[in-house]
Amino acid sequence: MDLRLLDSQRISALTPADLDLLVHQIGHTPLQLIYLMINGIARTVYLKLEGANPTGSIKDRTGYALVQNLEEQGMLSSNTIAVESTSGNLGVALALICKARGYTFIAVIDPKTTSENRAKMQALGARIELVEQPDTNGGYLLSRLERVQQLCRQSQSIVWTNQYSNPVNPLIHYRSTGPEIYHQMEREVDAIFVPVSTGGTLAGISSYFREVSPRTHIIAVDAQGSVIFGAPPAPRKLTGIGSSQASHFITSCVYDQSILIGDAEAFTFCRTLDVYTGLKVGGSSGAVLAACARYLQIHPHLRNVVCVCSDSGENYGTSIFNDTWLKQHGFSPPLQLPMPVQDIRIGETLSITT
Ligand SMILES: Cc1ncc(COP(=O)(O)O)c(C=O)c1O
Repeated sequence: MDLRLLDSQRISALTPADLDLLVHQIGHTPLQLIYLMINGIARTVYLKLEGANPTGSIKDRTGYALVQNLEEQGMLSSNTIAVESTSGNLGVALALICKARGYTFIAVIDPKTTSENRAKMQALGARIELVEQPDTNGGYLLSRLERVQQLCRQSQSIVWTNQYSNPVNPLIHYRSTGPEIYHQMEREVDAIFVPVSTGGTLAGISSYFREVSPRTHIIAVDAQGSVIFGAPPAPRKLTGIGSSQASHFITSCVYDQSILIGDAEAFTFCRTLDVYTGLKVGGSSGAVLAACARYLQIHPHLRNVVCVCSDSGENYGTSIFNDTWLKQHGFSPPLQLPMPVQDIRIGETLSITT
C-alpha cells in the first residue's frame, strides 16, 4: 500500500491492519543514481530517497523511534495524548504511528506547514494547534515550543515526544539510515550531504560513519537565515531544514563543513532536477543538491557521493512546484540549470541490500 497515492478521504478510512502495515514499511529506502555535469565532467551522485517512506519523509523513522521510546518508558496509553512541535513532516509521521497504536496526537504547526502535510495529519486523526505569531528570530519554532509547554502545563495527560532533545532521534539514524547508506554504497562513501533542522539525521548518520568510515566527508546543509551554525537569523521560505535555535545533537566533530543555501537556489535545484530527470524532491533536498554541486566543483576527486533527500516533492505542489506561488513570494520560476551544473541525467535505482 502507498499512502502517498491516497487522498484524505481514503487515508481517514484506513483500517488498523492497513495502518500497521504502513508502520512496518518504514525505512529501507532506495538510492537513486544521478549524474551532475560539472566543469564538463559527469559526477555521480546517489540520492537517498527518504520520500519513499510511508508518509513521504525521513521523519517516519524519527516518529517511530520517539513513540517506541515513550512506550518503553510506560508514558503512553489510551488516556494520554502525545504532542509535538513540527514544521509538518514529523507531524504526519506521528499522526500515522499514533493512530496505528491507538494514541491521540496533537500537532503544533505554523503557517509555513504545507497544506498537503496539514491535510494528511488531519486525515490521520491528528488535532491541529496552529501557532501564528512568529518568534523573535523571525521563525515559528520558539512560538511552537511555547505552545507545547503551555499544553503540557494544562494537562498531565499530555506527553511531549520532544524531537529536539530525545537521544532516540539521532540514535534511529545511527541504527538505520547510516547503515542502509553504507551497505547500499558497498562501503565506499566519499562524502554525504545531510540537511539539518533538529540535527538528529546529521548526528546519527555522522556517528555511524565516524565509526565505520572515518574518511567520509560529512557535510551539514542548512538554510540561509537559520541560526544552527551561528549565522544571524533571517526570514526564509524553506521548510523542514533550518531552525531558530541551536541543535542539541550537533557538536563540531559531527560534521566536516557546513554550507548554507538560500531559498531561491534550493527551489531552482528542485525544479531543474524534476525537468531533467522526472524526480521531484522537497526543498531541503534542493538545498542539499545545491551544496553538493558547489562542493563537487572544488573537490574533483570525490566519486561516491550521497545526498540525503529527506522528503519528496509531492508535499510542495502548491509551493515550490507552483509558478504562481513562486512569483507571489518574489522568486522567478527557474528557466535554466543552476550554477555550476551544465546538465543532469538519471541513472539506475539501487534498493536496499541488507
Ligand atoms: C524535509 C526535511 N528535511 C530535513 C529535515 C531535518 O532533519 P533533522 O530534524 O533530523 O535535522 C527535516 C526535519 O523535519 C525535514 O522535514
